[in-house]
Amino acid sequence: METLSLRDFAIIDQRPLELAVIVPVLNERDNVAPMIGKLALALAGIEWEVIFVDDGSSDGTPERVEEIAREDRRVRLIRRVGRRGLSSAVVEGFMSSIAPVLAVIDGDLQHDETVLPKLYHAIAQDGSDIAVGTRYSDGGSIGEWSESRARISRIATQLAAPITKSQISDPMSGFFAIRRDRFIDATPHLSTAGFKILLDVMASSPQKLKAAEVPYTFRTRIAGDSKLDSAVAVAFAELVLEKTVGRWIPAKLVMFGGIGALGSIVHLSVLWAALNPLGQSFAAAQSAGVAMAMLFNFTLNNILTYRDRRLAGWKWVKGLASFALVCSLGAVANVGVGSILHGQSTEWWLAGLAGAVVGSIWNYAATSWFTWSRK
Ligand code: GDD
Ligand code: MN
Repeated sequence: METLSLRDFAIIDQRPLELAVIVPVLNERDNVAPMIGKLALALAGIEWEVIFVDDGSSDGTPERVEEIAREDRRVRLIRRVGRRGLSSAVVEGFMSSIAPVLAVIDGDLQHDETVLPKLYHAIAQDGSDIAVGTRYSDGGSIGEWSESRARISRIATQLAAPITKSQISDPMSGFFAIRRDRFIDATPHLSTAGFKILLDVMASSPQKLKAAEVPYTFRTRIAGDSKLDSAVAVAFAELVLEKTVGRWIPAKLVMFGGIGALGSIVHLSVLWAALNPLGQSFAAAQSAGVAMAMLFNFTLNNILTYRDRRLAGWKWVKGLASFALVCSLGAVANVGVGSILHGQSTEWWLAGLAGAVVGSIWNYAATSWFTWSRK
């Protein structure tokens, strides 16, 4: 008896998949249908699929994708729950496809989809590992950006240059294609924090990637709103930290320490104000300083360091309570060490600072476990 080969299951009138286009979406309902229409036009002649990766949009984005996907098998959807983040959404989309070339494009029509075939052919025909849609080389443009956003983008681009292994003019681009096998090689080393997936892939790839660039003009958004906020700058800083000092110290510890240093300025200011103009006892003044620094540190770490696990609403209140509870041991040590040193006639500021350092180390270790624990 003849055994069936895999070939017998293949659908004869279909060519193998050539390109997967990943579209991260967060509240982009009105852009979904135009996006698919534009992709279908631009990608005529290439065997493609599009994978929308949604992070719990509340405006009906995934439902709109499903509606179209029921009619068109080239359209797929990944719904993520309890997750947020552009980079990790793109990584999950990439991982879900077996297409030999993977591309990513924003779901808000700001990237020029007619450039996609050029990105694809740079890899499939010209042998590049990665092909990047760039706003900065000849023929590319950032479109109608405000001068301040353009400046921030330029500074970030310069900061990023040393950590990408190949020289490219727009490492911040969210629009590129990559050979699937090269991407898979980079996955164990990815940080996936934040927005900068291209930068992450280029910095994490074990080999130097052969890169091509294709210029395009960044369009103005018509429907929906940008999700890029100030936290994006923080995510970028974290990625740069991770790819530099991250080898020795976790980026989050560096951030926690930086905020702690700012917190100790708050602490010392309150301590000074309570001691001098208000004439409080040292223990009372130090306690007030600790309490204010605690509130300050909790708030900033919640917004910046642990923005991926950010507590809001009732959880914020409970988080602050647990932070305060967990840190009260740190605070006892802080006031204790401070008071002992002050009692031995150490300078008031040195006594305060020493207490703060001892307290901070404890705070980092304990709160990353209790206050911002991963579920
Ligand atoms: N799944 C998911 N999860 N999608 C997201 C998330 C998220 O947390 N945040 C944003 N998106 C989606 C948006 O819905 C949009 O389709 C795309 O990602 C880009 O988000 P925008 O908020 O429109 O970003 P931008 O236009 O300000 O910035 C873009 O251009 C920059 C410059 O090239 C992005 O492409 C950046 O990555 C890029 O650096
Ligand atoms: Mn956009």
